[in-house]
Amino acid sequence: MKIITAKNYKDMSHLVANIIIQRIRDHSELTLGLATGGTPIETYKYLIEDHQQNNTSYQNVCTFNLDEYIGIEPTDHNSYHFYMQSNLFDHIDIPTRQTHIPNGKAKGIIAECEAYEAKIQSKDGIDLQLLGIGTNGHIGFNEPGTSFDTSTQVVQLADATRQANARYFKSVEKVPKKAITMGIGTIMKSKEILLLVSGKNKRKALERLINGEIDPIFPASILNHHPSVTVVADHDALQNTVVPSSILL
Ligand code: F6R
Repeated sequence: MKIITAKNYKDMSHLVANIIIQRIRDHSELTLGLATGGTPIETYKYLIEDHQQNNTSYQNVCTFNLDEYIGIEPTDHNSYHFYMQSNLFDHIDIPTRQTHIPNGKAKGIIAECEAYEAKIQSKDGIDLQLLGIGTNGHIGFNEPGTSFDTSTQVVQLADATRQANARYFKSVEKVPKKAITMGIGTIMKSKEILLLVSGKNKRKALERLINGEIDPIFPASILNHHPSVTVVADHDALQNTVVPSSILL
C-alpha cells in the first residue's frame, strides 16, 4: 500500500481525477470500478471538466459500480443509479450499455448478484477500482465481519452506515436496510485500487487501516494484502496518523 498526501479535499479530488484520466489515456478500454457517496463527488466534477476541455473519451470505457441499495427504484434520487447519472454519466460520452450498477429492484436478488459478478469476471476483472471507506472500515457495503473472500452479495447495512447515509434521506428510518455490493473478494481481484479518504471523521478509520491488524472486523484492512493500492488522503484525514515513510509516495 502506498499513500499520497493531499492538502485538502479539492487537492485529493484533483490528484485522483488525474490518475484516472492517465489510466484512460493509457488504456482506452479501461474497466473502471466506481464508488458513490460524498467523497468522490468532486473527483467526478474534475473528470467532467477534463472531458469537456480536453476531450478525454469514455467511448470504450466500461464501468462497474460497487453497490446499490435494495428496494429503491433506479429513478429514485437516493439510488446510486441516479447518483451516477447525475454526477458523471450524463456529462461524459460513455455509452449507457457500458455502465453497470447492481439492480436493487431485481426480482431474483441472488441471481442478480451472480450475474453481476459474472459480468465483472467476463471483463477479466476490474482494471482500476475507486473506493471510499466507511468510518467502520467498510469498503463497498461490506460491513465489519464480512469474510475476505466474498463475491457480489446481499448485505445488511450496519447501523453506523445507515446513520452516516441518513444525510441524504428524510430520516434514518428511510435509509434502506439492505444492499447489493461487490464482495471483498471481487474488490481484491481488481488490478489496481485507489482509496479516497478525506475529512476529520475518517481519521480513526485511516489510522486503523495504516497501523492496525488485518482482521475482517475492519474490512478495509485486507487492502494491505493487495499488490497495488494507492490511498489518496488529505491532511484532515491523516492528522494523528503516523505514516511509515516506506509507504509515503
Ligand atoms: C459507496 C460505497 C461506500 C462509501 C463509504 C464512504 O459506493 O461503497 O463504501 O465509499 O461509505 O462514504 P462517503 O464518501 O460518503 O464518506
